[in-house]
Amino acid sequence: MKIGLGITGCIAAYKSVELIRLFQKRGDEVFPIITQNGLNFITELTLSSISGNKTTTEMFSGVENWDVKHISLARKIDVLLVAPATANIIAKFANGIADDFLSTLYLSFEGKVVIAPAMNKSMWSHPATKRNVEILKERGNIIVNPESGYLACKEEGEGRLADLEKILNYTYHALREKDFKGKRAIITAGATREFIDPIRFITNRSSGKMGISLAREFWLRGGEVILIKGKNTPDVKFDIEVIECESAEDMFKKTVENFSRCDICIMAAAVSDYTPLRRESEKIKKNSETLNLKLKRTTDILKELSKIKKKNQILIGFAAETENLKTNAQKKLKSKNLDFIVLNDVKRKDIGFESDENEISILFKDGREKFFKKSKKEIIAKYIVDEIKNIGEK
Ligand SMILES: Cc1cc2nc3c(=O)[nH]c(=O)nc-3n(C[C@H](O)[C@H](O)[C@H](O)COP(=O)(O)O)c2cc1C
Repeated sequence: MKIGLGITGCIAAYKSVELIRLFQKRGDEVFPIITQNGLNFITELTLSSISGNKTTTEMFSGVENWDVKHISLARKIDVLLVAPATANIIAKFANGIADDFLSTLYLSFEGKVVIAPAMNKSMWSHPATKRNVEILKERGNIIVNPESGYLACKEEGEGRLADLEKILNYTYHALREKDFKGKRAIITAGATREFIDPIRFITNRSSGKMGISLAREFWLRGGEVILIKGKNTPDVKFDIEVIECESAEDMFKKTVENFSRCDICIMAAAVSDYTPLRRESEKIKKNSETLNLKLKRTTDILKELSKIKKKNQILIGFAAETENLKTNAQKKLKSKNLDFIVLNDVKRKDIGFESDENEISILFKDGREKFFKKSKKEIIAKYIVDEIKNIGEK
C-alpha cells in the first residue's frame, strides 16, 4: 500500500517516525508531506531518511520534470493519512482552503482520507473544531479520535494523538473490501484462570494474539465482532465489543449468552480442561510438605455450542496439540461437529502460544486439509477468514 502521510505542527509530530516504521514493517511505502509549521517539530531529513522517499515540504519547491506534484502524488497514493493533524489543517480541509501543499493535495485526492487529530483539550472541544470534524466525517473522511491522557501542554484531558497501532488499523480499514458487512462473529481468545485460592490460579501459555488477530481481520473486512478474552491479553486497537472473562465457566457463560447473536463462532481461546474442585476462601498456607489439588472437568464450550446451535452458524475450533496432532484434531473436529478446525503445534517455541507467528493446518469436515506455512498471526488470520468466506459462499 502507498500511503501519503501528512504531518502538521504538533508536538506529536515526532511520533510520525514510529508510524512510518510500523507501516514499513508490513511492507507499505510511505510518502511524507510536512507543513512549514510541522518543520519546527521534526526535520525533512529525518522523514526522508526513515521513509526512503523525498519528503514534500512546500508547494513551489522546484518543479521536477514539469511534474505538478500535488496532482501526481494524489494519483500515486492509495490513501491520505494525516497524523498528527492540527486544528488548523482540520479547519482548512473542512473549508476547502488550499494554501499549502498538504491542503492542496487533500482537494486533489479522490481516495480515502484518514485523519488523526492531536491538540490541547480546549482546542479539541472548541465548537469550531467540533463542527469542522463533523464536516469531515459527513464527507466520509475517517477520524481516529484522540485519546485522553497527559498532554504536551502539561494538562490532562482528551487531545493526545491516538495509539499508533490504532491509526495503522484504521488506515487499513479504510481500504479493505467489506466482504463481512452484516455478519457478526464471536471470537474467544487467550487463557482462562482457574482459582485455587484468592490469589493463585491454574492457567496456560496462551497470549490471545491469534484470537485478537482474527477479531482484527473480521473488523477490517466490515464484520461486527464480539471478542471474549481472558485477562492479560493484549489491548485491542480497533473498534469492536470486548468482553473480559476469567474462568472457563465465566467464558462459557459469556459465550453462550452471545451465541444466538452471531453468524460465525471461532473458539481460539485456550480454555482450561480442569478446575479445582474447591476454591479456598483464604490463601493456602505452607503447612505441609506436599499439597494435593483435586480437579474436576470444566464445561466443554464447543461441544455445548454445537448442541444449542439453532441457526446455521459456522463453528470453528482450534486444536492446540503437542502430540498425535492430526489424530487429536480430527477427533475434536468430529466430536464437536465443527465446520473446520485449526491445528497448531504448541510444543514449538517459534509458533503458537506467546509467539507473534503461527503455522497451521486446517482440517475441514468434508475431509479436505490445507497447510499454511509459518507467518505473522495477522497473515494467518487472513487465511482463516478467507476459508470462512469460502464456507459461507457454498
Ligand atoms: C509548541 C507548540 C505546540 C503545538 N501543538 C499543537 C498541537 O498539538 N495541535 C494543534 O492543533 N496545534 C498545535 N500548535 C499550534 C500549531 O502549530 C499552529 O496552529 C499552526 O498554525 C499549525 O500549522 P499547520 O496546520 O500548517 O501545521 C502548537 C504550537 C506550538 C508553538
